[in-house]
Amino acid sequence: MTHHIKSAQTIENIYDSADLITQEVLKRYEGTPDPRLRELMLSLIKHLHGFARDVKLTGNEWTFLMGFLEETGKWCFPGRNEFVIFSDALGLSMLTVTQDYKRPLHATEPTLVGPFLLEEAPRFEMGSDISGGAAGSPMYARGRILDTEGKPVARALIDVWHSDERGLYDVQEDLQKTGPWARALLTTGADGGYAFWSVLPVDYPIPQDGTAIRMMRATTGRTWRPAHLHFRIRAEGFLTLITHIFDRSSGNLDGDAVFGVRPSLIADFIPQSLGKAPDGKVMDRDFYTLDYDFVMVRG
Ligand SMILES: [Fe+2]
Repeated sequence: MTHHIKSAQTIENIYDSADLITQEVLKRYEGTPDPRLRELMLSLIKHLHGFARDVKLTGNEWTFLMGFLEETGKWCFPGRNEFVIFSDALGLSMLTVTQDYKRPLHATEPTLVGPFLLEEAPRFEMGSDISGGAAGSPMYARGRILDTEGKPVARALIDVWHSDERGLYDVQEDLQKTGPWARALLTTGADGGYAFWSVLPVDYPIPQDGTAIRMMRATTGRTWRPAHLHFRIRAEGFLTLITHIFDRSSGNLDGDAVFGVRPSLIADFIPQSLGKAPDGKVMDRDFYTLDYDFVMVRG
C-alpha cells in the first residue's frame, strides 16, 4: 500500500515533534463513532501525552511502567482487583464517587467500593451471625434503610463485608478452602430494618503482597485504613448506595490510605459488658454494638 506512505521529509517532521504526534493521534481518534467514547478517548490522549511531555518520560520509565501494569494484572482475581487499589490510592475512586453520586445533604454519603467486593455473597436471615467463624470481638450492628422522607425501604438488598481481627478479608485467604466469612447478603422486610452479628473490624494496611503497596511505600508511606464495615445497598427505584461505616475510635481516620473517610460515615462501635444483647441474646463475653441508619436516594 505504498500510496499511503508520505514523503520521507513529512514522516521525519511528524516524528521529530512531540506536539505533532499528539495531533496525529487525536485526529485519528476523532473518528470514534460513539460520542461519549470519543470524548473519553480524546481527553485521555491529551492528558496522557501531556503527562509524558510534562515529566519528559524516558524509555526506561515507560518500560518499567508497562512491566508494573503487567504485574498488577496478575494480582487481579474474583474478590481482589489491584487496579482498584491503585485507583483508590490515587484518589481517583473518591473523585469519581463524589462527582457522580448526586444526593440531598441528608442522604447517606457514598464512598469507594474497595477491591474486595464479591458479587455472589452468601445469603443470611436478618439478625444472623454472618462472621462465618472469623476471629474477633463479637459485634451487633443494626439500623434502618430509609428513603429521604424517612420512610422504610423494603426488600433492600444489603451486601456487607469487612475484616476480621487480623485486618484480613476472606478473599485474602484461600476462599476455596474456607468459603466466605464476614460477608453476607441480607434483605430488608417491610420495616426497612437490618441487623446482624459479626466480629469487630479493625484498622488494616493495604494488602502487603501486590504492586499498589510498593507504589505507596515509595511515595506517601500512608498505607493504613481506619476500621470500617463495607455496605452496598440496592433497592428498586433507588440509586445503589456503596459506602462504609467507620469506627470513631480508630487512630487512622485522618490519613486513610485511600481517602475514603467522610465525617458523616463515622459512628460509635460501643463496647458492652457481657449479658443481654439488644436482640435478647445472652452474651458470655463483652461485645460491641453499632446503630446506623442509611438514607437512600430515589433515582
Ligand atoms: Fe475495607
